[in-house]
Amino acid sequence: KSLVLVVGVGLLVSACGSGGQQSSGSGTGASGSGSGSGSGEKVYVVGTDAAYPPFQMLEADKISGHDIDVMNAIAEAGGFKIEWKNTGWDPLFDGLDKGTVDIGISSITITDKRKEKYDFSDSYFEANQLILVAEDSQVTKLADLKGKKIGVQAATTGEEVVKKAFGDTYQGLMGYDDMPSSVDDFFNGRVDAVVGDNGVLQYYVNKIKDKKFKLIKDDSFEKEYYGIMVKKGNTDALNKINDGLKKIKENGKLQEIYNQYFGSN
Ligand code: ARG
Repeated sequence: KSLVLVVGVGLLVSACGSGGQQSSGSGTGASGSGSGSGSGEKVYVVGTDAAYPPFQMLEADKISGHDIDVMNAIAEAGGFKIEWKNTGWDPLFDGLDKGTVDIGISSITITDKRKEKYDFSDSYFEANQLILVAEDSQVTKLADLKGKKIGVQAATTGEEVVKKAFGDTYQGLMGYDDMPSSVDDFFNGRVDAVVGDNGVLQYYVNKIKDKKFKLIKDDSFEKEYYGIMVKKGNTDALNKINDGLKKIKENGKLQEIYNQYFGSN
């Protein structure tokens, strides 16, 4: 977890796995590699965007983080084999469509829109959006950002709340391929604010010694629930996932992983 001891903020952010925006398929066999030949057992390919600390990150070429631990524990409890693939965000959805990825876990919020094309497991995490601004900023709510440049990761619920507030074609909306790039641009002064998931923004703010930034919650931000995603109709994988998830909820493993990354309160 001491992945970043760097002083410079730019370094801090990029150390958490910025860079290769759309880089696909740099597989990091965290567990269950091998095609299962011999036993003939299926190995499920799990895709993720490993640039979302502390949920998914890349440390020395190895994928790690809260969601990685959760998925590994689910596979173990559910009795199935998995293989990790760092797809990036948009390509994760493409991969599920094309069948090159079986399972997606990437702090993915369960939304009605996504449910049209994908099936979700039971939820394993509760989240909400937050706004990152400078500490001396006058902004106290989302509406105060009108006319300002707002960074988001494209095609996320963060982008959605901004579009909902200011319209789909809002000029100030800056969509990035990955989260670290939006945070980088905020620290560089290229955007006035970033809207994103609480766990991730909190992670970045906590890493900064002399806190010149603050996080704001708007009243309109609803509770979001992360789920594990499969292609619509893939009940085989979904049942195994839900079975494993139920077990790690019951035996305390899920809570244990949560505590490890977010403390016990
Ligand atoms: N929870 C948000 C969503 O589902 C953001 C998730 C982004 N995840 C990531 N690994 N970049 O839209």
